[in-house]
Amino acid sequence: MGFIVREMDKDAMRAIGAVNREETIEANYIAQPADDGWGLVLRRTRCNPPVQASRWDEDDLDERIGWWLPELEKGGALIGAFDGERLVGFVVSGHKRGDESAELSAIFVDKDYRGKGAGSALMRAAEENAIRRGVRAMYIMSVPTAATVDFYVKQGYRIISVIDKSIVGSFPWDVVLAKHL
Ligand SMILES: CC(C)(COP(=O)(O)OP(=O)(O)OC[C@H]1O[C@@H](n2cnc3c(N)ncnc32)[C@H](O)[C@@H]1OP(=O)(O)O)[C@@H](O)C(=O)NCCC(=O)NCCS
Repeated sequence: MGFIVREMDKDAMRAIGAVNREETIEANYIAQPADDGWGLVLRRTRCNPPVQASRWDEDDLDERIGWWLPELEKGGALIGAFDGERLVGFVVSGHKRGDESAELSAIFVDKDYRGKGAGSALMRAAEENAIRRGVRAMYIMSVPTAATVDFYVKQGYRIISVIDKSIVGSFPWDVVLAKHL
């Protein structure tokens, strides 16, 4: 399927609310101490029953914009995937940090458009944009959803850190991935 992928103005950020993020989460990767006590291992764990991620409401949207807009104000990019006029996915390619890394802060493809190449196209565009800004490595603080982590690994990202939530339950992410550009 042909998508138009293009950078969006930060003032248009509220348009991301149209991207339906609904998802049925069948499995997560859970970090657990390795049996020998050294380090952590990721175990794929089925959600029983599956977890439903719902559409954003206005409060969610405000919260997300509060996280991501500062990335754009510091030089990052919001890139959208369009089917004609319709926004069907987006990525936030974060600002360049002092160590020449940037965070891939968000990537979402509308439920009805997944598995058609939009996510890969957005990821490529986010990396190309970051390279133009002198970024040498991208990192991602990922939710533990197995499908999401699998997607990042398929895009060439490698797991560099995991967090044992049984000890540090308040951390907002479980799996950190990174890729040299
Ligand atoms: C993760 C996500 C962005 C991927 O976008 P997408 O448009 O579906 O991805 P693509 O169609 O480009 O797929 C790329 C590859 O990943 C695989 N993939 C994508 N989604 C997958 C899924 N749910 N389960 C397993 N594999 C998946 C595809 O099979 C494809 O592999 P292939 O090239 O060998 O066929 C999208 O599924 C999504 O928005 N998920 C919900 C939100 C989310 O998890 N966002 C990240 C957290 S911020």
